[in-house]
Amino acid sequence: MKKHKHFETDAIRTQVIRSAQNEHSVPIFATSSFVFNTFEEARAAFAEETDANIYSRYSNPNTDEFVAKLCKMENTEDGLATSTGMSAIFLALTSHLRAGDHIVASRSVFGSTHQIFINILPRWGITHTYVDINKNDEWEKAIMPQTRLLFAETPSNPGLDLCDLEFIGKLAKKNNCLFVVDNCFATPYLQNPANFGANLICHSATKFIDGQGRVLGGAILGPKSTIKDVRAMARQIGPSLSPFDAWILSKSLETLAVRMERHCENALILAQYLDKSKDIEVVKYPFLPSYPQLSLAKKQMKLGGALVTFDLKGDSKRCSKFMDNLEMLSLTSNLGDTRTTVTHPASTTHSKLSPEEKKAVGITGNLIRISVGLEHIDDIISDIEQAIAKSK
Ligand SMILES: Cc1ncc(COP(=O)(O)O)c(C=O)c1O
Repeated sequence: MKKHKHFETDAIRTQVIRSAQNEHSVPIFATSSFVFNTFEEARAAFAEETDANIYSRYSNPNTDEFVAKLCKMENTEDGLATSTGMSAIFLALTSHLRAGDHIVASRSVFGSTHQIFINILPRWGITHTYVDINKNDEWEKAIMPQTRLLFAETPSNPGLDLCDLEFIGKLAKKNNCLFVVDNCFATPYLQNPANFGANLICHSATKFIDGQGRVLGGAILGPKSTIKDVRAMARQIGPSLSPFDAWILSKSLETLAVRMERHCENALILAQYLDKSKDIEVVKYPFLPSYPQLSLAKKQMKLGGALVTFDLKGDSKRCSKFMDNLEMLSLTSNLGDTRTTVTHPASTTHSKLSPEEKKAVGITGNLIRISVGLEHIDDIISDIEQAIAKSK
């Protein structure tokens, strides 16, 4: 499909071929299989001599369109749509690893990714070493002869710490390892890990790519040679995205750029407000002047993202009071919605981490994570302001 000069145009004008009906908006190809006009067509499709659609577990025009847009946005050759972000991550990890292989990963990863590292991969003899995401020397020291893959989620959840993509990209290349990045928090609009040497990029499309809290979805992107093994595995185990959900997600990509601009504008204003509040201990936001990795954030991200975290002063009971007093903001573990969502990671998304693990990634009892939505920023701030006042 033709590539335009700008992200926004590709997001809107990348489209599967029009059907005989000459529709303007893309239809939903709600079909489990596809027909062949001849015996020879069927044979050639199964022999992978053509890229004809066979069965929607393998490919479908809606998932193809969604992936074609993401490939242009992430500057990758190829990709695959998946049913969830977790199936994308699981495929990225398992399609290229064998028993005895070793992973180096940033310690601050999403809870389910952590469970894959500690409970699932060890069953097949795949081990890992966790490192502090922002300490390049730790990454370097953790590499062993059997290390095959480096994994990072940047910005991290919920710590909002960054991995130095260029450094880790070079380190992976030097050591003949795959570099896998979960780019869910930044989205392809704010950050393109492939430009810094990442070999596989995973997305939970459930978050900002959908952006409206409606569907689950995921994607995995990279060079053709690396996606080949991912696709071969996915075809057999079947973590496919439904045509309907792919249609929604492809439509959502059309507005990703404008939504992310506003998410980031609102998040920066909120972070600046919280930074001045006497009730807040620490505010973290990648584009805030006080952010410890500000220059790295500006090097690898276009804007600071939609996530803001802060520690409320006082004991952890104050957090529950604060959250119970919110009138408009939603208490939910999801993020990347038009609606501002508030999470207390220690008691919800990261509750399975041991006290030591929580401490290591900066999850205190007082930490609040906000995914700043698209409501008017004054209304977001005023809800937070009144809930802070009532939490005293
Ligand atoms: C950073 C990150 N990666 C992956 C996932 C998993 O995505 P999904 O829920 O679509 O499987 C999440 C979900 O919250 C996430 O926050």
